Amino acid sequence: MGKGEIGLNEFVARSLDEIRFWSRIMKEHSLFLGLGFRCEDTQLKEEANRFYKIFEDIERRAHEFQVNTDPQTIQAFNTEVSIAATQIWAFKRRVLGLILRCKLPGQTNFPLLVDHVSREANYFRNRLIELNTGNLEPLPDAIIDENVFFLKIMADHAKFIGHLLDPSERKLVEQAREFSQDFDMLVFQATDLSSMRPQSQTVPLLSQFVDENKVSVQSLRDFKKTARDLINECRIKSIIHPLLADHVFREAERFLFILDMFERSLSGARVDKKEILH
Ligand SMILES: [Fe+2]
Ligand SMILES: [Fe+2]
Repeated sequence: MGKGEIGLNEFVARSLDEIRFWSRIMKEHSLFLGLGFRCEDTQLKEEANRFYKIFEDIERRAHEFQVNTDPQTIQAFNTEVSIAATQIWAFKRRVLGLILRCKLPGQTNFPLLVDHVSREANYFRNRLIELNTGNLEPLPDAIIDENVFFLKIMADHAKFIGHLLDPSERKLVEQAREFSQDFDMLVFQATDLSSMRPQSQTVPLLSQFVDENKVSVQSLRDFKKTARDLINECRIKSIIHPLLADHVFREAERFLFILDMFERSLSGARVDKKEILH
């Protein structure tokens, strides 16, 4: 059970941090999927409900463990949670298949949303496996891969918000469309940088990449916060669940937190060190 170059305390802290964040996210996905099914889809609703309870329980246990918990206990917990994440991933992909083959006409989850939440489940599962095997990506690779993943997530969020706002909210719909275009462009830039690996992995290029993405994510985060508050105060017309508005806001905060860590590691110019600092 090699833990790579992270210490055992850090292994426990990072594992708990990932599980506390993503188990709540997985729990909420189950709620959103359940709400989008039709009345007659009782079996799918039950399955979604079962996942809600599974991740609610995982979330509760993750908060009960302390940073001084035995690393072996946490390793077993990570394995258990990664299996649950794989199972919810399979459920989401099955639902996507049903929607794309028009087996659930009238259900209200966008196919892109179902694909999106399955990508988040896959990410969560991979993070846990990485932590457990100690197979952490070198920092320059992590910077590119995390950005490719999260920029696409942010681009999708802008599209969901734009399509779930009432069409009469013309100004907000337009703002969401602008964010969608901005992030699509950032996704392309990130995949360009990725294809230029390893030559593109210089400190100046990676720093500029992180800084530029950070500016856009901060502005999208502020937009989501405003939207969330307006929805909570019932000041705008939409079919956005208040919890979904908060959910996408929290995911932007998570991305910013990761970008900040990259920024700090890069400013220490520790890029040649074979360790990932997030
Ligand atoms: Fe999510
Ligand atoms: Fe998301």
